[in-house]
Amino acid sequence: MKLEGKVAFVTGGSGDIGSAIVRELGQEGADVALSYVGQKDTADKMVAELEGIGRRGLAVQLDQRDPNSIEAASTAVTDHFGRLDILVNNAAWNIGISFPQLDDLTADIWDRVLETNLRGPFLLSRALAVPLKADGGGHIVNISSVGGLSPGSSSIAYSSSKAGLNHLTRCLAVAMAPDVAVNCICPGLVEGTRMAANVPEPLAEGARQQAVRGRVGDPGDIARQTVAFCTSVSVSGQIVAIDGGMPIGMR
Ligand SMILES: NC(=O)c1ccc[n+]([C@@H]2O[C@H](COP(=O)([O-])OP(=O)(O)OC[C@H]3O[C@@H](n4cnc5c(N)ncnc54)[C@H](OP(=O)(O)O)[C@@H]3O)[C@@H](O)[C@H]2O)c1
Repeated sequence: MKLEGKVAFVTGGSGDIGSAIVRELGQEGADVALSYVGQKDTADKMVAELEGIGRRGLAVQLDQRDPNSIEAASTAVTDHFGRLDILVNNAAWNIGISFPQLDDLTADIWDRVLETNLRGPFLLSRALAVPLKADGGGHIVNISSVGGLSPGSSSIAYSSSKAGLNHLTRCLAVAMAPDVAVNCICPGLVEGTRMAANVPEPLAEGARQQAVRGRVGDPGDIARQTVAFCTSVSVSGQIVAIDGGMPIGMR
């Protein structure tokens, strides 16, 4: 096991990709805290699953639009485990508004997307910087999107929030060096997730066809790359697309 004795916090660990990341970190030996907004039952099931393989788990309620909620969840995690080695900024919110529908993308929707997907990861990284830097240093992994590499995906706000998260990765890699490595994963279409199920089938099929590997990603691919970043000592400020090798993601 590569992460024995480590403690991780996965935001949005009640979601499709978040739960795969929680599972993989646990299987590699880490104790894991995970956050949910409303899906407490799913989060509790993940904690039971972790305990079933001999790890410690903790489910915390977090609305990362709210700075007070970020402070409270961060304190709950560090008080419970006494240390933190890994932060996975996975939680996000999106809404389908096609790019040309400019008038439908209201200021309120813009703020909700940016607060959740960009400001939240910054405030979480800031709140947890001290424990992440302690005990030999740690890792942050941001879960972004290929929509942050090129203009596409569910809305202009989502695409812009993820482009911001990509650059936040590089900025934090500098700001938190040398103690904390900060890296980023940009999934394309992730098979088997609710988000992917909302993509019209012709678009999903187009993505599979364009992927040079003949397949797009699944939650396990994202989870294994998260562990790869967390077990690497010399990689920081990097952004990896997991999309089956889409030419547009090869930047
Ligand atoms: N699925 C894909 O095809 C795909 C593609 C590209 C990128 N991604 C990225 O991968 C990550 C995970 O996506 P997913 O498919 O697993 O999504 P998901 O199943 O919808 O999970 C989203 C998670 O974020 C949490 N969340 C939502 N709003 C929040 C808020 N305001 N504060 C804190 N947590 C909040 C949700 O909590 P509740 O469950 O309690 O509501 C849930 O745990 C996201 O960053 C997403 O942008 C996904």
